[in-house]
Amino acid sequence: MTKIIAVLGCGLIGLNWAEAFLNAGFGVQCWDPNENVQSQINALRDRFSGAKIDYFSRVEEAVKGVEFVQESGPERLEVKRALYQDIENALGAETIVASSTSTIMPSDLQQGLSYAARFVIGHPFNPPHILPLVEVVGGNLTSEATVNKAYDFYAAVGKQPIKLHVERMGHLANRIQAAVWRESIDAVASGQASVADVELAVTAALGPRWALMGQFETFDLAGGEGGMANFLGDIGSAIEALWDDAQRPVMTDELKVKIIAETKKLVGEREFADKINRRDEFLKAVLAAK
Ligand SMILES: NC(=O)c1ccc[n+]([C@@H]2O[C@H](COP(=O)([O-])OP(=O)(O)OC[C@H]3O[C@@H](n4cnc5c(N)ncnc54)[C@H](O)[C@@H]3O)[C@@H](O)[C@H]2O)c1
Repeated sequence: MTKIIAVLGCGLIGLNWAEAFLNAGFGVQCWDPNENVQSQINALRDRFSGAKIDYFSRVEEAVKGVEFVQESGPERLEVKRALYQDIENALGAETIVASSTSTIMPSDLQQGLSYAARFVIGHPFNPPHILPLVEVVGGNLTSEATVNKAYDFYAAVGKQPIKLHVERMGHLANRIQAAVWRESIDAVASGQASVADVELAVTAALGPRWALMGQFETFDLAGGEGGMANFLGDIGSAIEALWDDAQRPVMTDELKVKIIAETKKLVGEREFADKINRRDEFLKAVLAAK
């Protein structure tokens, strides 16, 4: 029997989650308070003919009979909490509810829910139908079994999940991204480099490496034959000195205007759909090359 996943909230992330689940051979029961999303759900039906793709205007109906719920509603604590209350009586006794939230702590989201032990974060990366990482993290009321089941579920969807053992604001990958963003902004704010050149520092050096290996493997190589042990000597200390030099740039209105103008010049005049297609095709090619 096809496994059916409830997709709650069909905006940017929810619709792409639906596509990821359909790609993996699952069916989807979708809900969104904005009934206009039905045109995009119909487009999915055209592409995945024969798959079970249903839209419900009542959220209680969308979660009926499913083992897994992926919530991708607006990033507001009270909106998500209200939604979790609404589905409380319609959920199966074993159903897991996972939130896509990028910034809200699981312990804050699960408070007061009768199914708090079965609540977990399953944080994807945009676009979730292409990028494999899913960060799985529970709150203080989440059971270990739930974290394990969610992990196994995302693996079955073809994703590369990771378990985070401590809940922290922004989870993991976005914290790494925020550190890079801080340095990128600081380079522009201090006059060190233009937006275009900061972008090149990533796309012509760091990015290609990062597609294949993260910081640990990169620095293992930087340590030469002696690997990481060698790296953590003098070179490592030199890099640590840069941590002490890190600045927190101030996002003034003037800086924002500069960043917006330079980014516009960098990206050029292209349709949004073209930009998305270019990114998606490029990401697929990089992942295939890996
Ligand atoms: N955008 C990203 O890059 C990204 C990446 C990873 C995770 N996320 C997370 O995914 C979730 C959804 O983000 P998104 O970018 O898809 O947002 P979005 O605004 O595109 O979609 C949110 C959807 O929720 C619906 N919705 C559900 N309940 C609602 C309510 N009570 N009031 C108003 N609208 C309601 C909206 O109609 C809309 O279709 C967020 O929790 C976000 O943190 C986003």
